[in-house]
Amino acid sequence: MVIKLEKVVPVGRTLDEYIKMFNLTENDGQKSILTVADGPASFNAEGTKLGYKITSVDPLYSLNTEQIKKCFYEVIDNIIEQVEKTSNNWVWSYYKSPHELRKNRERAISLFCEDYEKGKKEDRYEIGELPKLEYKDSEYELGLISHFLFLYSAHFDQQFHLDSIDEMLRVCREVRIFPLLTLKHKISPYLYFVIESLQNKGYECKIEEVSYQLQPKGNQMLKITQSK
Ligand SMILES: C[S@@+](CC[C@H](N)C(=O)[O-])C[C@H]1O[C@@H](n2cnc3c(N)ncnc32)[C@H](O)[C@@H]1O
Repeated sequence: MVIKLEKVVPVGRTLDEYIKMFNLTENDGQKSILTVADGPASFNAEGTKLGYKITSVDPLYSLNTEQIKKCFYEVIDNIIEQVEKTSNNWVWSYYKSPHELRKNRERAISLFCEDYEKGKKEDRYEIGELPKLEYKDSEYELGLISHFLFLYSAHFDQQFHLDSIDEMLRVCREVRIFPLLTLKHKISPYLYFVIESLQNKGYECKIEEVSYQLQPKGNQMLKITQSK
């Protein structure tokens, strides 16, 4: 066991991590983006300042800033302790140490909290949860989801994964998912079934290497597009 989590944790990443996890280009930055299960990531806060058009959706957004912060600080010590105890099982290229990892997660939630109330008023943070989204067909050009699908394969079954990805593809013309590994650092047991099922429905699925990595062999992202 590398890391054990009873439930999905409200821990988020930064804009730089999102750019690297999803191979985002300047052109992608011009698209309307839906980030699902975005939690206390600072992608929306930082990206909005750069002119990106981002909507984040997560069940966590039913809480206020203080409650979200409290949820984060209830879990972060335990996560970092588990990482410290298993530090040989992680790749220290992006972050140099568990301490730096923690600082980065704290930076992300701090930027998120500064932006959250304003972002809620601007409808940039919306309450919602997979496998159903309250958006119109093809409302967004690009859908991103990180550290939820595949990672939590032990918590959500194959049907949930299929339904959730179908729903994201209903709402977004292209969907990118990172990582493809579970919390045990193994390829998700659902990955190849999901890919085959999507290809049978006419989608193009491509596994791309990315420059972000914390889990060993965890430098791959799934890109799903409508076949031309
Ligand atoms: C580990 S965080 C990832 C945050 C962000 N995507 C990142 O990578 O920095 C996982 C998020 O999934 C959210 N979540 C839990 N169940 C969900 C569901 N059914 N649909 C969408 N999001 C969900 C949690 O509230 C949490 O914020």
